[in-house]
Amino acid sequence: MGLVDVSRLPQHVAIIMDGNGRWAQARGKPRTAGHERGADAVRDIMRATRRLGIPALTLYAFSEQNWDRPRGEVDALVDLLCEHLVSERDELIDNEIRLSAIGRLHKLPSRARERLHSLMNETAQYDGMTLTLALSYGGREELVDAVRALAHRVADGTIDADTIDEVTLARQLPSMKVGPVDLLIRTGGEQRISNFLLWGSAYAELHFTEELWPDFGVNSLYYALGCYQKRERRFGLVPDDCEPAEALPPRGNLEHAV
Ligand code: IPE
Ligand code: IPE
Ligand code: MG
Repeated sequence: MGLVDVSRLPQHVAIIMDGNGRWAQARGKPRTAGHERGADAVRDIMRATRRLGIPALTLYAFSEQNWDRPRGEVDALVDLLCEHLVSERDELIDNEIRLSAIGRLHKLPSRARERLHSLMNETAQYDGMTLTLALSYGGREELVDAVRALAHRVADGTIDADTIDEVTLARQLPSMKVGPVDLLIRTGGEQRISNFLLWGSAYAELHFTEELWPDFGVNSLYYALGCYQKRERRFGLVPDDCEPAEALPPRGNLEHAV
């Protein structure tokens, strides 16, 4: 913890929680056992992030492409989500964490959707931290949905195509509600984005670690934050003149069509 300067924290941390299957396989267990342990890691990281005062945490829990995994694994992941939406209720409320979700949520089974929406409603008034779960999420799919929505608005005459710019598009992206990503962490040793927050990660600092997600603990988070704080973010500028150049309104002020 001594490594982290709490006056220079990232405002938005996003995590690709990878390596659950390998964690289980290394122990001769079914992949689903890794997902169960992974869900425990979520609780610790969520608590630590909140305690530090980081306002936004986005977790990649299930990708649009993950639907094509074996049926038994997909069902187990949905069951786990349902269980945790119940078991973590008090944790969210006690810590005043607002729950949010991005992705093609309509593809989730109704039991998961209902629990998700009920907990999102129950925590909507909190502003301590926003925890966003990316579920049935793909960065390309999010951009396609946004472009389609804009195309409809052009077609019905509510906006002029020539006025569309980065701000207009960002406003259509649910993932941008909490602003661009400052620090993107991926566990599990792979060094790729796997269709996560494509727009919001444009100037994110990337932190890759070999640790498998169930092993990623609070000290691993502090280490990642310490590494982040050693970076110089330039946003395409020259040193000493480095304010974000992204043409975006202040965080939290994005109006969303969704
Ligand atoms: C990440 O762990 C969790 C999800 C994608 C749902 P994996 O299940 O991808 O684990 P590995 O990468 O196969 O070890
Ligand atoms: C990314 O991990 C998705 C989640 C962590 C939910 P994957 O394991 O699905 O990604 P790839 O297959 O390694 O690119
Ligand atoms: Mg994986």
